[in-house]
Amino acid sequence: MQLIDGKAISAQIKKEIAEEVSQIKATGGKTPHLAAVLVGHDGGSETYVASKVRTCEEVGFKSSLIRFEETVSEEELLTCVNRLNNDTDIDGFIVQLPLPKHISEQKVIEAIDYRKDVDGFHPINVGRMSIGLPCFISATPAGILELLKRYEIPTQGKHCVVLGRSNIVGKPVAGLMMQKGYPGDATVTVCHSRTPNIKEACLSADIIIAALGVPEFLKGDMVKEGAVIIDVGTTRVPSPETKSGFKLKGDVAFDEVAAKASFITPVPGGVGPMTIISLMRNTLLAGKKEIYK
Ligand code: GUN
Repeated sequence: MQLIDGKAISAQIKKEIAEEVSQIKATGGKTPHLAAVLVGHDGGSETYVASKVRTCEEVGFKSSLIRFEETVSEEELLTCVNRLNNDTDIDGFIVQLPLPKHISEQKVIEAIDYRKDVDGFHPINVGRMSIGLPCFISATPAGILELLKRYEIPTQGKHCVVLGRSNIVGKPVAGLMMQKGYPGDATVTVCHSRTPNIKEACLSADIIIAALGVPEFLKGDMVKEGAVIIDVGTTRVPSPETKSGFKLKGDVAFDEVAAKASFITPVPGGVGPMTIISLMRNTLLAGKKEIYK
């Protein structure tokens, strides 16, 4: 079994991005600028956004954090999105999800200029991705594909089972795994909460991408010998052992599945660090106007 080290790979990509940014600066180019909008004080969102802002500094980007209280109106938030759309210094921005119940996430996502949508959540980016056109690919699916690439894991003709059908991970990663070329060309099965024979599907899988959000859902007796396991789960569970009082649990029962896997991602330190680095890469592409002029 080989551990897929997302922390090491993301550190390497971070270095590559930082080098490119210093080249851009040295030749008088514009410093890429990412803005993040954070509504309320959800612990998970606070942690993710802080980490995104910190990584921007580490790679040499400019970053802006715009905060709103939980009570912000949808109209106020849409006004902010509109301002960011028109701010020529900002190359890309994200609105951290989830948003409070009184705000339509879909409306907010659709208000973002797709050319600045470095999360890749806008329907134009989702649509372009699904037909293989240049676009911003959302960060977690892009990070998963990058891990498969860097570990040179074969995907052509392989049976890939995706557990979960979320708009952010399950659906896009399933689409990408079946696209022509590498890392794609896989035969993809998507399982979800209404799928009756999940165990049978998993037992025939060469690659399993678990993105259900159910801690330790995938057990050792559900995977075949030599399977590649990608764990996207990041459920925060209370833990007296850590300073924060929480620890992250993946969707995979790690020890028993690792005993059968050829490759496996740990939680934390697998897909998580890749997600942030993929957002940085999208911001760099946005800054260089490489996808949209
Ligand atoms: N909430 C959980 N993951 C994400 C993400 O990748 N982007 C945004 N904007 N919100 C999230």
